[in-house]
Amino acid sequence: MELGRLNHVGIAVPSVDGAIAFWRDIMGATCIHEAFDLREQGVRVCFVDTPNGQIELLEPLGDASPIASFLARNPRGGQHHLCFEVPDITEARDWFEMLGKRILGPTRVGAHGTPVFFVHPADMQGVLTEIMESPRG
Ligand code: CO
Repeated sequence: MELGRLNHVGIAVPSVDGAIAFWRDIMGATCIHEAFDLREQGVRVCFVDTPNGQIELLEPLGDASPIASFLARNPRGGQHHLCFEVPDITEARDWFEMLGKRILGPTRVGAHGTPVFFVHPADMQGVLTEIMESPRG
């Protein structure tokens, strides 16, 4: 397992539009990307750039969204996951599987267009962890 850079912090929000206003007007973010729907993951996503990484704002798309259940427990939203890059997603998945870590679902294409998977927080010191293959080039 080769640990790469912290790519983003995922934050669940009731409304991406409301959260964008917060990050722009209160936090001073100047580079906020266009929001988009990631239907297969049941989320609306917006990335906010910081000097050394990104914030991923996640709004549920429908009641079946994993973010909907998170918001049911945390109505104002909150920190949802951390995402770390790795050079090779298959190698990383094999590593976590070998260690008996529970991986949530198949490896799939994430919000940055590269393969990702999630590891259960109960096996990761309480932190839902997204592992993402580094974008090439
Ligand atoms: Co993420």
